[in-house]
Amino acid sequence: MEDTEDVAARGQLTPLILQIERDRGVDLSQYRGSYVQRRLGTRMRALSLTTYREYCAYLTAKPTEYARLLDALTVNVTDFFRDPPVWDIIRGEVIPSILAGKAALGHHAVRAWSAGCATGEEPYSMVMAFLSAKGPRPERMLLSVTATDLDPIALKTAERAEYDIAKIDHIPRTDRARFVTSDERHFRITPEVTERVRFRTLDLFADEPPMALDLILCRNVFIYFTREQQERVTGVFHRALARGGYLVLGRTEKMATSAGKGFQAVSGRERVYRKL
Ligand SMILES: C[S@@+](CC[C@H](N)C(=O)[O-])C[C@H]1O[C@@H](n2cnc3c(N)ncnc32)[C@H](O)[C@@H]1O
Repeated sequence: MEDTEDVAARGQLTPLILQIERDRGVDLSQYRGSYVQRRLGTRMRALSLTTYREYCAYLTAKPTEYARLLDALTVNVTDFFRDPPVWDIIRGEVIPSILAGKAALGHHAVRAWSAGCATGEEPYSMVMAFLSAKGPRPERMLLSVTATDLDPIALKTAERAEYDIAKIDHIPRTDRARFVTSDERHFRITPEVTERVRFRTLDLFADEPPMALDLILCRNVFIYFTREQQERVTGVFHRALARGGYLVLGRTEKMATSAGKGFQAVSGRERVYRKL
């Protein structure tokens, strides 16, 4: 826990936030104040700096520190098929409904977005779930997943599609057999999956989202945002979804009441919603 005296001793935060926005275009005022202070505190302690003013000067003198700061701000913890009960609904209800809808209309293209994809486990899980779905489906399914994150370092790992063998257990056996090749220490996601995912850096507050989507996963990202910012991003998702498209938030993330008007809950408990 952070000592409140420590935080007070660091002085005014606003000039530092303005400098970071001016130099790097990252608007830290979008994030919860306590979260930003904790993360900045970690960097400052590592550099033995005591005030925000000193940290401003350090960033000016050593702009390479920006990369480290961004790294400290973006926590990239993730996994394949993270929170299995949500994936049961995605596989059992969401994907079959999307594919049946496409098949009925004779449409082939299925478009999905993993927003805040970190190191790529989530979008690759999505593709595996779509490719292994049963039931009615478009004859030639053209699946494309846009996977975005604020953090370019995490995206580099995602594009490599190679992971430590310890993570393989999270991928169900049948998917593993079809979509993964491995040696003793690493495993790789096969091209059948990777070629359907396009990664790019995207700030949820600043950049144009992909549009006409059938499914958006944005899980364990809202934790960084204030309530107001969560509503704003939920509005972005509402516009980005096609009618009847699905939005899946993280387990601890709640749809804001006002932003939720355009959605119907498919599973309130698992945070699965559908655009009305
Ligand atoms: C904990 S990871 C979530 C990964 C994955 N969605 C999951 O649930 O396992 C949160 C990600 O959100 C990203 N993020 C934070 N703020 C963001 C923003 N404003 N725009 C885009 N991505 C952001 C971070 O870089 C981080 O990689």
